[in-house]
Amino acid sequence: MRKKLVAGNWKMNKDISESIDLISEINKGLNSSVFDKADVIVCPTFISIYPVCEYLKHSEIKVGGQNMYKETEGAYTGEISAKMLISAGCRYVILGHSERRQYFGENDTLINQKMEKAITSNLIPILCVGETLSQREENKHIQTVTEQVKSCLTDIKASNEQEKFIIAYEPVWAIGTGVNATPEQAEEMHSEIRGILKELYGEDISEQIRILYGGSINEKNSTDLFKMKNIDGGLVGGASIKAESFTKIINSVQ
Ligand code: PGA
Repeated sequence: MRKKLVAGNWKMNKDISESIDLISEINKGLNSSVFDKADVIVCPTFISIYPVCEYLKHSEIKVGGQNMYKETEGAYTGEISAKMLISAGCRYVILGHSERRQYFGENDTLINQKMEKAITSNLIPILCVGETLSQREENKHIQTVTEQVKSCLTDIKASNEQEKFIIAYEPVWAIGTGVNATPEQAEEMHSEIRGILKELYGEDISEQIRILYGGSINEKNSTDLFKMKNIDGGLVGGASIKAESFTKIINSVQ
């Protein structure tokens, strides 16, 4: 049985004191029994990671980075390494988010290198994939996502004993638009992705890998999305920086 997971991607929002305000509200809004049903992750900006981790020392909420670089250290101005994220308290890192692909030119080859680095550094990457609106309109959504998954997972090992990575299906047309994929559209893609994982890693492992949905999740649509067989939770953007919405989404996990 895959445990559900709800992750909040704060994007470039909240300075340090606002981050502490937000995490304290989220923390207060969650009953400890919710963690039996769902893992909860928040991904603040780099400068807020450490203070948020310090705040969460005795909480079950985990913390992730929104990005990292593929190298260990060195002359890469403006970048951050896996080791640094870990030293600040992160267990997870989002990789290949569509905003990284769109505004910062990240491609599958680089994302694959980052995946390798994150995993060998003991971070659990949340690999984002998803088609644009025109790719869906041209009926190329499955092909696009299949290629992204296969390229980003090239030479990446998975394991039965330990979670090595998580996948997030985030259709670009659904991110920040208020138009979410329907549960059926998302389930169709999630089941395709699970099929690819089965091809790559075999049935047992493919059944253990969590596949999140992301794109305009809110407290009204989360229940129906999370009910689907292959939807193991969500990667939440806009609604994750509103404590009340985020906690309602987490509480909607059945
Ligand atoms: P959204 O963002 O929930 O605001 O659509 C999701 C994401 O980008 O991860």
